[in-house]
Amino acid sequence: DLKFGRDRDGLNFEPVAPNTLDQIVVPKGYQQDVVIRWGDAVLPDAPKFDFDNQTPEAQAKQFGFNNDFCGLVPLPGWDRWLMVSNHEYTTESFMFKDWAPDKITERHAKIAWAAHGLSVVQVERDHRTGKLVPSKDKRRYNRRITLTTPFEVRGPAAGSQYLKTSADPTGKKVLGTQNNCSGGVTPWGTILSGEENFNQYFANADLVTDPDTKAKLGRYGFSGKGSLRKWENYDKRFDLAQEPNEANRFGYIVEIDPLDPTSTPVKHTALGRFKHEGANVIIARDGRVVAYMGDDERFDYMYKFVSDDCYLPGDSKRAREHNKRLLDSGTLYVARFKGDSPVAEIDGTGKLPSDGEFDGTGEWIPLARNDKSFVDGFTAEQVYVFTRLAADKVGATKMDRPEDVEPSKKNRRIYAALTNNTDRGVKPGKEGATEIAPRVNNKHGHVLEVEERRSDNTALTFSWKLLLVCGDPKSPDTYFGGYDKSQVSAISCPDNVAFDSRGNLWISTDGNALKSNDGLFALPVEGKRRGFVKQFLTVPNGAETCGPVITDDFVLVSVQHPGELDGASANNPLSHWPDGGTSQPRPAVAVIWRKDRGHVCD
Ligand code: FEO
Ligand code: CA
Ligand code: CA
Ligand code: CA
Repeated sequence: DLKFGRDRDGLNFEPVAPNTLDQIVVPKGYQQDVVIRWGDAVLPDAPKFDFDNQTPEAQAKQFGFNNDFCGLVPLPGWDRWLMVSNHEYTTESFMFKDWAPDKITERHAKIAWAAHGLSVVQVERDHRTGKLVPSKDKRRYNRRITLTTPFEVRGPAAGSQYLKTSADPTGKKVLGTQNNCSGGVTPWGTILSGEENFNQYFANADLVTDPDTKAKLGRYGFSGKGSLRKWENYDKRFDLAQEPNEANRFGYIVEIDPLDPTSTPVKHTALGRFKHEGANVIIARDGRVVAYMGDDERFDYMYKFVSDDCYLPGDSKRAREHNKRLLDSGTLYVARFKGDSPVAEIDGTGKLPSDGEFDGTGEWIPLARNDKSFVDGFTAEQVYVFTRLAADKVGATKMDRPEDVEPSKKNRRIYAALTNNTDRGVKPGKEGATEIAPRVNNKHGHVLEVEERRSDNTALTFSWKLLLVCGDPKSPDTYFGGYDKSQVSAISCPDNVAFDSRGNLWISTDGNALKSNDGLFALPVEGKRRGFVKQFLTVPNGAETCGPVITDDFVLVSVQHPGELDGASANNPLSHWPDGGTSQPRPAVAVIWRKDRGHVCD
């Protein structure tokens, strides 16, 4: 196709047009199918999914609801992996026909607990069709982790007074993980997953009387009396009036070792507590590991963690056990950005800053290192459990909802999706446009590129630029890395980022404010086509695209909450994806590959 001529970056597919179809749309020459969907068997003895007669016991053996992050850990041999999916949240009105806020039962609550957490599913490539499929052998590795699976708390705040509850006086053992949004695969073959919007599941913040406890809960978004899902009626740990510290036991990066199905999953306090989107690790040149992280809230912050110890290469038992301890001790930093141009705001005429770019410099402000706090008025333990308040204190830069923050292994730069912030410059008392967040009422978000000083990921200073200011390219308040805007696809609300083996950036979106379906996009970050955004696929109406995995041979996407549209429910499904007919919509992982079995990028 001459219009989109071939290039060494390999992104030679013909872009998909915006649409509102109830299906996955892929470029010409590619095909797609479902790998696994909500309710499909994960454990060998899982019963067949029965929407109308679901039980907690069945759900605990089946693929959970609303999968977000997806990661692949290779198994020895060819074309076999452990696929790990996060199950971020439950939407009971889509899961049950008999659910209503005044008709909630223990069965609803317990199914929801079992539908959270993560799934580990062995997958392989079917060489007859080219499709990725769950392996028939479910015995060895397949695993469900739910909201009742025991976790070990590690790092500086393990055993903290703020983590002790009547059920766990040690403050070191938490039942379950929830709201696991994005994540990452570590170089040592484990999965990191971020506990994000955990506040919504707790009741009675308004009944907490101690003013200090109440203020801390408030900074994390806990409010109100009864919760929507009424879990507090079935487990008192969700009632903050009775168990205020239970709130402090969520909001961490968790680490799962899928290669060891008997391992106890870990909550890492050394990476701080906030609405963790996810965490992605790179090995710095000196061997220490650096994890980059975002706190997905309007006007919240970007963080990094630098380990004390160095990565041990290889997959010997000794190396793996050592590496699985790397996130226990190190230094936690928060980012402060400075623009370099007097005119910061992208105005209605599309005028860029005087130097032609949204760019500048910045520094990583240390918050704590193990038992040492660098923040006035905070103990180290307080920094790790109430990280947002410590970062407020040091004047971290307020950002437009940092979602994925991921280093490229090709160029060592960091790419961050700032998904949107419609409060910027709009909500009274809130900050207006700055060079790093240059749009008031930021509906479409932007994508940031950070280069650490001397490309050293442990550095304390960096330079940065905005790679994309998203939206309709026809609109003057957008920017596509300086590329010709008449050529690019519209993109809105970047959420997850990933890289292919050539270093191209792939971006999935959540909440497309241009009124068409969400999707997956790709662009080169180097060379003449830097900024040339092309849409690779769209997901069904009402769904969010997440968890993209880009291998040479196929692409995986999570199709989260298909059919989540105004007025829709299990009694009125407005999507029938993926099974068609009159079926209920089911969140799923989908695979996309080329019909001619060629490489995705070619
Ligand atoms: Fe669950 Fe920040 O998206
Ligand atoms: Ca500038
Ligand atoms: Ca997300
Ligand atoms: Ca999101």
